Amino acid sequence: MSTAQQIPDILSPEFATDPYPAYRIMREHAPLIWHEATQSYIVSRYEDVEYVFKDRHGEFTTENYDWQIEPVHGKTILQLSGREHAVRRALVAPAFRGSDLQEKFLPVIEGNSRELIDAFRHTGSADLVADYATRFPVNVIADMLGLDKADHDRFHGWYTSVIAFLGNLAGDPEVAAAGERTRVEFAEYMFPIIRERRENLGDDLLSTLCAAEVDGVRMSDEDIKSFCSLLLAAGGETTDKAIGGIFANLLTHPEQLEAVRRDRGLIDRAFAETLRYTPPVHMIMRQSATEVTLSGGTIPAGATVTCLIGAANRDGSRYRDPDRFDIFRDDLNTTTAFSAAADHLAFALGRHFCVGALLARAEVEVGVNQLLDALPGLRPADGFDPAEQGVFTRGPRSLPVRFTPSAA
Ligand code: HEM
Repeated sequence: MSTAQQIPDILSPEFATDPYPAYRIMREHAPLIWHEATQSYIVSRYEDVEYVFKDRHGEFTTENYDWQIEPVHGKTILQLSGREHAVRRALVAPAFRGSDLQEKFLPVIEGNSRELIDAFRHTGSADLVADYATRFPVNVIADMLGLDKADHDRFHGWYTSVIAFLGNLAGDPEVAAAGERTRVEFAEYMFPIIRERRENLGDDLLSTLCAAEVDGVRMSDEDIKSFCSLLLAAGGETTDKAIGGIFANLLTHPEQLEAVRRDRGLIDRAFAETLRYTPPVHMIMRQSATEVTLSGGTIPAGATVTCLIGAANRDGSRYRDPDRFDIFRDDLNTTTAFSAAADHLAFALGRHFCVGALLARAEVEVGVNQLLDALPGLRPADGFDPAEQGVFTRGPRSLPVRFTPSAA
């Protein structure tokens, strides 16, 4: 096993600017690293990250979320295991797929996307990150829950501090304190709404959560509040970065953008390849329940394991020419890319596989279609620099574009 000395540290500015060269060195020369600052073992190879996520032998838990997110969200589905997790998942999963998604929530997705686009389509220029990506998914979640539109800006503020908490690998006390304040404010906001909604069930996601019952089990007010808080981060931040990512990748590969513009059936391919090439979530942690051997090294029981999705998804032993963005690659399965049978690791795999993957896909499909329709001649503006930011979650900082103005 290696120590991190000869490799750019995952907390260094150099790594934050461009982690991909460091990922390569890790995969090739130091596939298992003890990282002192985060007190965790880092794995980077596709086969190791896949092994940890699939957890076929019950060697890993998600107890890491007790300290990683419970202080800001309360206890969530991510921390549950076994039957308790299966029951909770069965309660919430139907809302994010099938007829609920198609009939109830697709109009919500389309309406929220259109509203944002209508605000800039006539101007001929926009920043697809600030004006669209950072707003769209969080507005969708708030609207799906049936919360007041007037509160979207407050939601955006909470969302920003929750994300900062999650990405606070260096342990900045101010970021931690802001995250904990958000927990209090969000609870004060949500509890009266949950109590009121239980009395007046509607057609929204919050009503579904209030009424859902599996084996006689219902979610408590605290459970619902924590789940909504998790949705802000899990459903907002990730899809925000995914939309930024798909446009960054397509705008820097104009021939692939043109192919997608002409054949919208390629959006799924472009999204799947974006999830592989520039995943929104670059690292996910686990806790070892027993001693585990990986890539020739040993992880003791009770240790934190940091799984580098961003590195594993560019493993040359899994993908040909892994540092090339290619929506036509034949070694990435697009059909299974949004299910637990996915062969990229961006949604993790196994029991905690992203429950919102199909919702994310619907948002990206609607978003890309509407933006391409409303913004003819879409191209990078002067000063366009799709540099990514973020270490835990990652996406383009800004995407200034120009296009031919169009009326709504
Ligand atoms: C491209 C967008 C998305 C990405 C990359 C993503 C990524 C992930 C990942 C990596 C996990 C696994 C965490 C772990 O195993 O520790 C996860 C779980 C989860 N995601 Fe997503 N996600 C996305 C969109 C969404 C959306 C739109 C929602 C909203 C419904 C959502 C809700 C969740 C929830 C609730 C879990 C926990 C599932 C469980 O513990 O069983 N995600 N997501």
